[in-house]
Parts: sequence; C-alpha cells; structure tokens
Amino acid sequence: MTANKTNIITLICNKGGVGRSTTAINYAWSLAIKDKKVLVCDLDAQANASSTLALDYGTDVVDRGKNMTNLLKSSGEGALDFIVDTRNENIKLLASTLVLDSTEGEVKSFLDLNIFKLFDHMFNNKLKEEFDYIIFDTPPLKSSVLTLNALLISNWYWYILSAEDQWSFDARIVTEKIMKDVRKLNRKIKPLPVLLTKYISSSSQSVQMKKAALKAFKSSIVKTTITYSTVVAKSHSKRQSIHESSPNHQIAQEYDKVAESISNFINKKKK
Ligand SMILES: Nc1ncnc2c1ncn2[C@@H]1O[C@H](COP(=O)(O)OP(=O)(O)OP(=O)(O)O)[C@@H](O)[C@H]1O
Ligand SMILES: [Mg+2]
Repeated sequence: MTANKTNIITLICNKGGVGRSTTAINYAWSLAIKDKKVLVCDLDAQANASSTLALDYGTDVVDRGKNMTNLLKSSGEGALDFIVDTRNENIKLLASTLVLDSTEGEVKSFLDLNIFKLFDHMFNNKLKEEFDYIIFDTPPLKSSVLTLNALLISNWYWYILSAEDQWSFDARIVTEKIMKDVRKLNRKIKPLPVLLTKYISSSSQSVQMKKAALKAFKSSIVKTTITYSTVVAKSHSKRQSIHESSPNHQIAQEYDKVAESISNFINKKKK
C-alpha cells in the first residue's frame, strides 16, 4: 500500500446521535470482510467505537495507555505506536478514553501555534502505508479541534444523516460553513455521498428526508439506506459489530452494500 492511496475519511454531522459511531464500526467491519486494512480513529471522549471494537480495552487502552490522549501528549511520536488490536485482524484502532475532552482543552492551551497541524506527523506516511482506509469517528461538536485536524488530513468527509431527525438535516448548514473554511486549507478534501441511517420505509418523515437530502446535497446520497432496527442497540450492548452479533440481519448486508457503493464512488472519482 503506498501512502498516497490511503483513503482518509472523516464522519461528520454537528448533531449528536445520528449513527456516526455505529457507521464507523460497521463500515469498517464491512471493508475488513473485503480484506481491506482499516484504521478506526475515535476522536470522541464517549469512546463508543473504541469500547466496542477494542480486543482488550481495559488492558491495552487503559492500563498500557495506548490511546489518543497519550498520542496527543507524546512528543512528536507517530500514531503507529498507539494503535491497538480489535477482534478483526484487518481492523486496528486508535482509541479514545473519557479524558479526551480535557486533553483537547490542554492541547488548545499549550499549542496556540500550529493547532491545526497536529495530525500531519502523527498520521505520517509510515502509518498510511499500513492501511487502505483511515476512518475518523468524531464528536458532535462544531468546535472540536480534533475533528478539524482530522478534516485537514482527510481526502473525504462523510455526512451522516438520521432519517427521522430533522435537526440532523438542519445541521448541514453548520457543516457546510466549517467545510468552506476547511477547504481553504485542505484543497483535496471532497464529500462522499451522504448516508441516511435509522431509515423507516413506512414513515413519511424518512421518505421526505430522503427526497430533501437528494435535493440539498451536491454529493448526492448513498442509494442504500441503513434501516432503523433494534439489532443495532443489541449489538452495542454486546459490544459487537452487527456482523458479529446478527450476521444474517438486513443491516449487516446494508452496511456491506454501503461499503461497496462508497468504494465504487471513490474509484470513479480517482480515475
Ligand atoms: N440503524 C439504526 N437503527 C436503530 N438505532 C440505531 C441505528 N443506528 C444507530 N442507532 C442508535 O442511535 C443511537 C446513536 O447512534 P450512534 O452512537 O452510532 O450515533 P453518533 O452519531 O455516534 O452519536 P454521538 O453524537 O453520541 O456520538 C444509539 O443508541 C444507537 O444504538
Ligand atoms: Mg458517536
């Protein structure tokens, strides 16, 4: 894998609870099934994606200190030294812990210069060479310095929209503003087709949202939507991906289809 072929994707939406972490976990899993090497980076102190994916969160992330906070506090080390294994050999994790919010505050105060260049050396070519995809799961904060750093090294941003949540649609206005500024500093970043999650085909709200999203987003939307289902909550309570907890469920297949569509989209754009 040459470093410039790595697809770096930041999941984004300034509204909480839209399905970013669920998508980070299950999209990564679908890519891994196709033999892609994936690094999931958790930038959210809630650590939902981390606690679900990590092979041994307590030992590796907490006790041995392999996490985003210690990477940020290290003096110029690359992220490779801070990543941990997951239950899938094709997926590695740069994990978050509950203290990440306060770390972000500290970083802001001691690094007034180059505050948006933190990830340049952390995600260096040596790291990129190891992965086909680097996926950033982000918190729902528009002022997150870590999200901005992720966007500045990404090739793609991926808007996640919850089909029953009007406010997640409204939040695109804030995201568009942020992306306008990001594009000034990172000219290579492009939008992926928007993903609709928690879609209820019998609900007029979901159907209307899909129509509105098709109109509103220049990057269009992924044809496959992720259906609303209780298997998602079940997989979270077991701390598993949907492929592990309900491999034959429709949602597992939907995430596979989404992964395929996104790969096709990326390949077309690269030609
Ligand atoms: N397809 C789905 N069907 C039903 N529930 C879902 C689905 N996707 C996500 N959820 C539920 O929605 C909630 C939010 O999902 P998730 O944590 O993935 O979103 P998020 O955008 O990462 O949230 P946060 O802003 O807290 O980081 C969770 O309780 C999750 O179980
Ligand atoms: Mg989340």
